[in-house]
Amino acid sequence: MDWEALGTTVVACTRCAISQTRSRTVFGVGDRQADWMLIGEAPGAEEDRQGEPFVGKAGQLLTNMLLAIGMRRETVYIANVLKCRPPNNRDPKPDEVSNCRGYLERQIELVNPALILVVGRIAAQNLLQTDAPLARLRGREHRAPLTGTPVVVTYHPAYLLRQPADKRKAWQDLLFAREITDRRHV
Ligand code: URA
Repeated sequence: MDWEALGTTVVACTRCAISQTRSRTVFGVGDRQADWMLIGEAPGAEEDRQGEPFVGKAGQLLTNMLLAIGMRRETVYIANVLKCRPPNNRDPKPDEVSNCRGYLERQIELVNPALILVVGRIAAQNLLQTDAPLARLRGREHRAPLTGTPVVVTYHPAYLLRQPADKRKAWQDLLFAREITDRRHV
């Protein structure tokens, strides 16, 4: 599937029950030829309203975290594991993740980024197919299953809004991610 076919398929998708409660699908946004791809968990209320990932409070922090390492939001590609909002922002169910997995995998293939930054435990565990805790996933370079793309894991910005003391560690994760891409460009 090319971008257009993929987009059309996602908009029309009714594989999960949560397709009935969404306002709209949240496909992804940004530069389709980006070096960096960011992957979050699932749309929240604001994303469901606007149809764009990471536009609520957590999204504003994410945008600022990127700026802190000199990257504008428009220069990366941002997507979520789930394209529909789970009611009350509950965790994605395993069947929802598997129904949606092919869409994300195709997005990764099409963007073909140099690096994937995964935010939060849920997105990281689902993308990397592990049940390791976030503390063990941070600070290491992983590989995306299908493409072998380097993957770095950091805290979810919604968590950082509650635990601002961990922003320092998130900053280190972003620097680590940038080191990996800088290495590829020399
Ligand atoms: N949290 C996510 O994981 N993704 C969004 O798009 C918004 C909030």
